[in-house]
Amino acid sequence: MTRKILVTSALPYANGPIHLGHLVEYIQTDIWARFQKLQGNECYYVCADDAHGTPIMLKAREQGITPEALIERMGHEHQRDFAGFHVAFDNYYSTHSEENRTFSSLIYERLRDAGYIERQTITQAFDPKMEMFLPDRYIKGTCPRCGAEDQYGDNCEVCGASYSPDELKDPVSVISGERPVERESEHFFFRLQDFEGMLRDWAGSGRLQEEMANKLQEWFEEGLRAWDISRDEPYFGFEIPDAPGKYFYVWLDAPIGYMASFKNLCDREGVDFDSFWREDSDAEVYHFIGKDIVYFHALFWPAMLHGAGFRTPTRVNAHGFLTVDGQKMSKSRGTFIMAETYLRHLNPEYLRYYFAAKLSAGVHDLDLNLEDFTQRVNSDLVGKLVNIASRCAGFITKRFDGQLADRLDTPELFRQFTQAGEQIAELYERREFSRAVREIMALADEANQYIDEQKPWVIAKEEGQEQRLQAICTQGLNLFRVLMIYLKPVLPAMGKQAEAFLGLTPQQWGDARKPLLGHTINKFKPLMTRVEPDRIEAMIEESKHTLAPRNGQASAPGGPLADDPIAEEIEFADFARVDLRIAEIVAAEHVEGADKLLQLTLDLGGEQRNVFAGIKSAYAPEDLRGKLTVMVANLKPRKMRFGTSEGMVLAAGPGGEDLWILEPDSGAKPGMRVK
Ligand code: 2FM
Ligand code: ZN
Repeated sequence: MTRKILVTSALPYANGPIHLGHLVEYIQTDIWARFQKLQGNECYYVCADDAHGTPIMLKAREQGITPEALIERMGHEHQRDFAGFHVAFDNYYSTHSEENRTFSSLIYERLRDAGYIERQTITQAFDPKMEMFLPDRYIKGTCPRCGAEDQYGDNCEVCGASYSPDELKDPVSVISGERPVERESEHFFFRLQDFEGMLRDWAGSGRLQEEMANKLQEWFEEGLRAWDISRDEPYFGFEIPDAPGKYFYVWLDAPIGYMASFKNLCDREGVDFDSFWREDSDAEVYHFIGKDIVYFHALFWPAMLHGAGFRTPTRVNAHGFLTVDGQKMSKSRGTFIMAETYLRHLNPEYLRYYFAAKLSAGVHDLDLNLEDFTQRVNSDLVGKLVNIASRCAGFITKRFDGQLADRLDTPELFRQFTQAGEQIAELYERREFSRAVREIMALADEANQYIDEQKPWVIAKEEGQEQRLQAICTQGLNLFRVLMIYLKPVLPAMGKQAEAFLGLTPQQWGDARKPLLGHTINKFKPLMTRVEPDRIEAMIEESKHTLAPRNGQASAPGGPLADDPIAEEIEFADFARVDLRIAEIVAAEHVEGADKLLQLTLDLGGEQRNVFAGIKSAYAPEDLRGKLTVMVANLKPRKMRFGTSEGMVLAAGPGGEDLWILEPDSGAKPGMRVK
């Protein structure tokens, strides 16, 4: 029976480039969607740019363009990158679309009319200069718990404390540098708590991975609360129909963007939208997402859909994060790799294969180990898979004018390959891609072993063995063809080349069952070349110099000043009171329980200081030991949660990965004054 399936990946924000971390999800989803299509199911894979919200509005302002122009440009870049990795959406759209406005309003109005929307007046930080309310991430100040400076309005990255922005000491607006004031405003809330029973049933019926279902249990136990779905102007988004000056929060219309993108496809291709989305639909809807956005997809989204009379998702599949060589992607190490950068150096199918070989149905993080990547692609794809074809094709072309034999040499072996298809399909279906790949590669080993044993190159020299030679090579090429069909979801481009080589129309999964006999093939060309380590090095080197996004956003092309304006003028005397000294970092250690902090011992040439510095995101302790730096030596000691900090190290940069301690020339000596 043909299944009707709608598949989505999370919508990427329209303010930053696609990087390899994103691609885990798009490649995973694309493999699954391609597999469904290969099975003959009616499957649609849709996505869109997530175009609304404060960061996009501000980024456009910094660039002096309209948000519409910004999202238009980003949309093109994203689609170019996805196409580069053969991610084949049936529709790629934008949440800033008429379809999305219509559905967002419709869902809101249905929820409102059913009594699920309430209004509450809340107090929020307001930037008096910019005349806008400030999301927590746009307020910085001193942590009320540990005293660390320059912390965001919602939590301290040094000691991990969570708080509300009004608890921050010396708060400033990140946008204008002004001190925010408190201001009241009426907000709209979606009563999530009214859906607890429905959500418990939904989550308990096999819609989520076990880890995620457990997470939901915790949330239920903590109690569900109404969700703030409105934002005041200025905001880039959709105005709420009955509330001028109020906008839907970006996270309200983002998932609705899945429907809107699909509607756009339906209208273009004459597909019946309602049969997928009405309450009693028998179509299947799957969302692939990262584990960080489960709350939105497993609570708000099904509740909104249900409350508005639409069907809920069949499943929400979460995946883990990408690490490179066992560590968080890092610009300074050159492992924060943009899709575009990768494509300049390497074949996209290497990465598709490698991710497939490591992806499972679980929520684990996935490590891209670059050495393993090289070794695995070279050994599996070039050494095993392509090798099968290259060992047989030449004889068929040269000795038999491209004609395959009318019989297989060992039908039993062929049958074994086709029978394995059932289990491999089952593994794809369950998103156990690594196991599917393992099965396929085990078959590739058998095919190579068969050729090793038959030794066509020896038989080719023997008299009167023509028919046997043709049958053996026909057998080898048939095994190759079956494997290529099994790998088509992962390696679509190589699959296409293999079809061209074998003189075939696009193959479906079921085609693998019938052997290819008495058929003419084309001249063999190498279907994939080896990964060259110097290309990887070049990619890493280039990535050290590419603009890496932070907090999911690309850094401002307006330069650091746009992000962080210069502070108020001071007198020389003020400056003179700050005693800056050269210090040697004689020891550097991790601080247990602190996400951002390193504990440094600084030598001032006769006196040692204990300093906690929030630079862990940029430096490992071993990178620092023995280095010279500049410190504020006369800062009053501050008691922090982890001990007393006796000074401050000077560093530059926006933060995160991009933070550099000042490293004086080696001519400087510990204790010297910095003037
Ligand atoms: O976390 C993100 O990157 C969001 N832009 C994902 C949105 S997914 C969906 F809800 F639209
Ligand atoms: Zn703190």
